[in-house]
Amino acid sequence: MALNAPPPHLNNMMEKEELCSFALSIATNSSLLMVLKAIIELDIIGIINRAGPEAHISPAQIAAQLPTKDPDATASMLDRMLRVLANNSILSCSLRALPNDGPIERLYGLAPICQFFTKPEDFGPMVLLCQDKIYASIWHHLKDAVLDGDSAFKKAHGMTVFEYLGTDMRFSKVFNDAMSNYSTITMKKMLQNYNGFDGLSTLVDVGGGTGQTLNMIIAKYPTIRGVNFDLPHVIKDAPKYDDHGKVIVCDYILAMESENSYSTRVASNLDICMLAYCGGGKDRTEQEFEALAKGAGFQSFRVVCSAYDLKVMEFLKKN
Ligand SMILES: C[S@@+](CC[C@H](N)C(=O)[O-])C[C@H]1O[C@@H](n2cnc3c(N)ncnc32)[C@H](O)[C@@H]1O
Repeated sequence: MALNAPPPHLNNMMEKEELCSFALSIATNSSLLMVLKAIIELDIIGIINRAGPEAHISPAQIAAQLPTKDPDATASMLDRMLRVLANNSILSCSLRALPNDGPIERLYGLAPICQFFTKPEDFGPMVLLCQDKIYASIWHHLKDAVLDGDSAFKKAHGMTVFEYLGTDMRFSKVFNDAMSNYSTITMKKMLQNYNGFDGLSTLVDVGGGTGQTLNMIIAKYPTIRGVNFDLPHVIKDAPKYDDHGKVIVCDYILAMESENSYSTRVASNLDICMLAYCGGGKDRTEQEFEALAKGAGFQSFRVVCSAYDLKVMEFLKKN
């Protein structure tokens, strides 16, 4: 779906001509994420950002900062790629008339969403992961996976995603970078909204990746001792963080939303990633999470707060 598509409930109010354009924009939309991937690889958002707050710069000014063999051709291609991003509210665009009645050129600046495509809150590594050839290739197997009840990843690569990650160090780095950047964004918010780590002595992060989540929690609660539990090939590459002395335990999981919103799209997009990449993995509704908690013998379950689209839930052994 186009990033700036109207919510589905507005569709029945659209005229047929508008619906036709909407349908064709969806049919041709796969280029958007591949353009965004190339723009991130070329560090174009960084180049515009470094031009200063509110800066709008031309494709030629951007091309001048790239190791290009043909600056004019590069500027012309960039202009067309950046226009795609501007039409999807990822960049802003303004017009400037060149001197002596010259043609009008487009200048590009950062739209508000770019605060999440620049460090330290950067979903760029998630774009690189989701469009990586190892991930992208699995979607061609989704139809057969649906009919066989198998995971598309296994059909494409002959093993589960976590087995595969142990065999391909390049892709493993792409995966771990995406996960730790995602965790940095969500944990920063979670630590503002949630105080349930207070008073814990031990925290085990199950599937904790390279340890970014645990490190952020322990930086705020230094008396907790953290245990990062993950697969050997992940722990091998995890940076060594200071051991702050004690131990922590916590649990938070993605929930499904039901209204028409970006949150709903995020939840269903992530759920479909689970379906395609992990086979058995899925996101759950609040009721399903509660049933999971109770089925596993926890006496009480509650959704405590949110960190962006992530819900913080507590499964308690006693009421
Ligand atoms: C979606 S990633 C989460 C990454 C991490 N929470 C972070 O914020 O960076 C899932 C993690 O589960 C780990 N994992 C998968 N199967 C596992 C298993 N059987 N035992 C331990 N960890 C596992 C993977 O290696 C991966 O790091």
